[in-house]
Amino acid sequence: MSATDLAAIVSKPATTPFLPPYPPRPRTPLGPIAALTTARRNFLALFEEKCFEYETFSTRMLSRRVFVCNSPDTVAQAFIAMHDSFERKTPQMRHALTPLLGDGLFISDGETWRQRRRIVAPIVHASRMSLFAPTMVEAAAEAADRWDGLPEGTPIDALRDMATLTAEIICRAVFGPRLGHEHATEIVAAFGDYQRLVGQLDLLYLLGLPDWLPRPHSPAIRRAARRIREVLDHIIRECEDRSAGGEDSMIRRLFDARDPETGDALDREALRNEAAVIFMAGHETTANSLAWTWFLLSQSPDVEARLHAELEQVLGGRLPTLDDVPRLVYTRAIFEEAIRLYPPVPLLGRQAARQESIRERTIPAGSLVIVVPWLLHRHKHLWAQPDHFIPERFLPENASERERYSYVPFSVGPRVCAGQAFGQTEAILCLATLAQRISLRLAPGAVVEPVCRLTLRPGDGLPMLVQHRT
Ligand code: HEM
Repeated sequence: MSATDLAAIVSKPATTPFLPPYPPRPRTPLGPIAALTTARRNFLALFEEKCFEYETFSTRMLSRRVFVCNSPDTVAQAFIAMHDSFERKTPQMRHALTPLLGDGLFISDGETWRQRRRIVAPIVHASRMSLFAPTMVEAAAEAADRWDGLPEGTPIDALRDMATLTAEIICRAVFGPRLGHEHATEIVAAFGDYQRLVGQLDLLYLLGLPDWLPRPHSPAIRRAARRIREVLDHIIRECEDRSAGGEDSMIRRLFDARDPETGDALDREALRNEAAVIFMAGHETTANSLAWTWFLLSQSPDVEARLHAELEQVLGGRLPTLDDVPRLVYTRAIFEEAIRLYPPVPLLGRQAARQESIRERTIPAGSLVIVVPWLLHRHKHLWAQPDHFIPERFLPENASERERYSYVPFSVGPRVCAGQAFGQTEAILCLATLAQRISLRLAPGAVVEPVCRLTLRPGDGLPMLVQHRT
């Protein structure tokens, strides 16, 4: 098939695009008790139909007043123009993650955040992908071998398998291919426990107790965090011991990094905290987005056929490399559409450091400002057929139809995802490697419901059946 034939095929959307599931939307705002029980079960089910039309609104998330920026201009104002006022993460987020990440980049602010960002961002920057891409493809090919070894129609949990794959990749990237592989299972188990424990929204927080009131962590959370610290310290020591013939890895770079402004190195605790940040931020997000992609493909035969046509044309059965990524335009469009519909981080929250005003509304110091990709990405005035799966909207020739800052799966502004290039490259290479050999079908009777814990997941698992393509 020539490139022109392929372009003709991929630029036309399917005649009947798939309408994937989303939680029921109340017609009117929920009362306090209903809101509390809904928020505990699934945060996304709180938003009534009208929230997908408003440009801004303020709401009480139960007892807390929250200002929602729900239009491209207000997103840009809060996260870019007024970044200094809205740099701080919410008390809820800081409370949930401090035992795990300490003063790590993801939840710090002020000078600590700025210094860590200067050190960590270059280590995961787009220009470093040539180091990580072979690891991504190698781990994806091993996953394809595992699926290939299963009889036709074998049930699998696609969410769990994608979590295993992205954990393998991030562990090998952080600790080096050998050490990362040896310790991946141990790290995943330790983080899994922690994330399960903090995944539920904090009831005291929802009830609106003031932030200054001490809110101790449960012994189980403290134990889980201690275990992670021990595991990471152990691997970091091993990494140091083996440093003579050492592999290039993120941890090696963190050891050697100096703040370009002050010349300071990271101390041992800071180094461990940043390793924990990279693992936490870079593992479940990509896993969820790949799981959603498999689900959407399984329900959209036209899209899947176009994906297969592109993979055949660009790769012809071989493994992908970093150089192929720019050529896999339809594969990228599928991934971008999957994270439009199911943004792995569906809510970005900040606390105002000082009083500000957006669209003539006063936002008092200490109040919360949120951008909700879940709402913005399905906004009725920003997207045609906002709830439908239409990857073609992300093809380069359709880019001009999209308003800037209407699509923020990686956030925007100075706190934008530091690992955006890593996540995108990883998703495209994994999908291209796996989809050449395997298709997945939804298991009969499986019910798929988007649920927001710390990240947006297809419930507790995604039961699918393996279908071999070759
Ligand atoms: C599909 C994959 C990914 C998505 C959708 C995603 C999304 C995000 C979002 C929305 C934020 C901002 C959160 C907030 O403001 O509350 C963020 C922050 C961050 N992400 Fe990602 N991420 C992905 C993959 C990765 C990967 C692979 C890495 C590392 C290799 C990574 C590292 C980080 C870091 C370090 C931050 C904190 C940045 C800061 O606060 O300055 N992410 N990510």
